[in-house]
Amino acid sequence: MTEYTVEFVDTGETIEVSDTETVLSSCIEAGIAQEYSCRVGMCLACSAEILEGEVTQPAARGFTDEEAEGYALTCMARPQSDLKLDRGTYPPSIDDGGRAGDDGHAAADDD
Ligand code: FES
Repeated sequence: MTEYTVEFVDTGETIEVSDTETVLSSCIEAGIAQEYSCRVGMCLACSAEILEGEVTQPAARGFTDEEAEGYALTCMARPQSDLKLDRGTYPPSIDDGGRAGDDGHAAADDD
């Protein structure tokens, strides 16, 4: 078991997370507020952008393989290195109002 340091850039909080635990479960144990809902990798409520580092998250079914390269579902993600995460951040394909392919294009911003 290896412990890694996970930093949340939005709040500056850091926690130690073992490579056998998920980021979310470590947040809950440490009393750090981390949004979540399903805890099974489907709802995306616990999404965070990976600014630095690597995770393993084979059960992050809510993400495509491409999305999972830059984003973590913290309920599924186990660190493989020290991490910097930006919580509450979603891949553009989700943040723009829908996945490409739902209606052929992402929803346009109104600004
Ligand atoms: S809590 Fe639903 S995907 Fe993580």
